[in-house]
Amino acid sequence: MRQIKIEISKKEPTDKGIVTVCFTAGDRAVFRAGKNGREELCLGVGESKKLGRHAWAVLVRRVVAAAKTHKAKDIAISLLALAALGPDSDLHDVAERIAVNAELANFDFVGYKTPPKQGWSFVARLRLFGDASAAVREGVNRGQIIGREVNACRALSNTPGGEMTPRKLAAAAKLAARGTSVKVSALDEAGMKKLKMGGILGVAQGSVEPPRFIRMDYRGAPGKPIVFVGKGITFDTGGLNIKTGDYMYEMHMDMSGGAAAIHAIVAAAKLGIKKHVIAIVPAAENMPSGVSYRPGDILRSMSGKTIEVINTDAEGRIVLADALTYAERLKPELVVDVATLTGAAMVALGQRASAVFSKDEALLREFFGYGEATSDFVWPLPLWDEYEEEVRGTFGDVANASKSRYGGAINGAMFLYQFAKNIPWVHIDIAPRMTAVESEYLAKGAVGAGMQLLVKLVEERAKRR
Ligand code: BES
Ligand code: ZN
Ligand code: ZN
Repeated sequence: MRQIKIEISKKEPTDKGIVTVCFTAGDRAVFRAGKNGREELCLGVGESKKLGRHAWAVLVRRVVAAAKTHKAKDIAISLLALAALGPDSDLHDVAERIAVNAELANFDFVGYKTPPKQGWSFVARLRLFGDASAAVREGVNRGQIIGREVNACRALSNTPGGEMTPRKLAAAAKLAARGTSVKVSALDEAGMKKLKMGGILGVAQGSVEPPRFIRMDYRGAPGKPIVFVGKGITFDTGGLNIKTGDYMYEMHMDMSGGAAAIHAIVAAAKLGIKKHVIAIVPAAENMPSGVSYRPGDILRSMSGKTIEVINTDAEGRIVLADALTYAERLKPELVVDVATLTGAAMVALGQRASAVFSKDEALLREFFGYGEATSDFVWPLPLWDEYEEEVRGTFGDVANASKSRYGGAINGAMFLYQFAKNIPWVHIDIAPRMTAVESEYLAKGAVGAGMQLLVKLVEERAKRR
């Protein structure tokens, strides 16, 4: 793990070898000789006096990215100068966001690469000076917990499909929870058969890798649980409706929703949030073979509703159907599913925001706010009853794909809604945000979408009572 050691002090540190960060007009990043024979890294922050909330977070990432490029391993920043560039004046919040974004920017998925002779150029130390209050310390501490957990989530998503099978994902969940009070268990095929989870068993049947139904319990407080449901397809070939090369590439990340659920509940435990949380991840590999499920097959889901398989590549919603029924039985306060569900969500929104769906407008507003606060952006799409026609089955109760070419993200959500009618429920399609875009100063690969939303959710809900 490439973690940054963040040190807080009232006075500017004067040790040799520290690179001091400063901010100027313009848009360039330059290294130059500074005070006392030390180097300075000067970053252009544009012409306007203040940045927006997200632009400011990206600036924090830019600082770390520039330091990495110039192999500066020990950097110092004035907390107050940095805070003055953004809209937020609460230093606890500012410190937290600095820590989160510094950690995020320092991450690279290098575990499978041979290290260069001179070593990787990660930032080792960040000195924040100007205010050493308890609020700042607490903010930094919390931010580091969140940032490091998001990075662990990204690493899990990035791990190649051959090395992250459903069984290994269950083991990874156990490992992630080590040292916390989170309890981890996993159902095997026999366990799933007992519960009549015909959806997930159907999707998994073409793979030599057996499925797992992962469950994590965190009892931060008594009361009804918030349930996270994460899509855990460890590799999505499309099944018999096989994907072509361009579309199959990156499908080892089709368990990104599962990774977000796993690491969000662990983050909640590490932050000590006083809330009852349960995370469930239906994990399976979607493979074509002589024994795989076929278009036209009709699967009996745990809810009793039958699913007519129109397209074996719409597998995520099938495994989630069983997970939502399981979630309903937990008598939840709220169920939130996070899934790389549709390419269509990406067509609709581009790569800057996940799509959020709910029948409850107050929940949509709540999640929109969490997105703005964390830069884990969401934008709502409709779930009107009219769309229900698209998922009506001909020979089964529900069809897993629509005949129409249009509105794929909504149709996916509408399918899930058929299994969530009795629970307060939010669906987040993170396919648009599965991987980073260049201008956000995050490493190529998974960004951990959805995770910060979930953490923020339980945090805010814990304050409500
Ligand atoms: N995992 C994919 C969706 C996806 C595509 C996520 C690209 C991230 C990037 C999902 O299982 C899928 O294949 N969905 C189909 C549904 C269709 C067959 C109804 C899709 O989006 O085309
Ligand atoms: Zn698929
Ligand atoms: Zn998929």
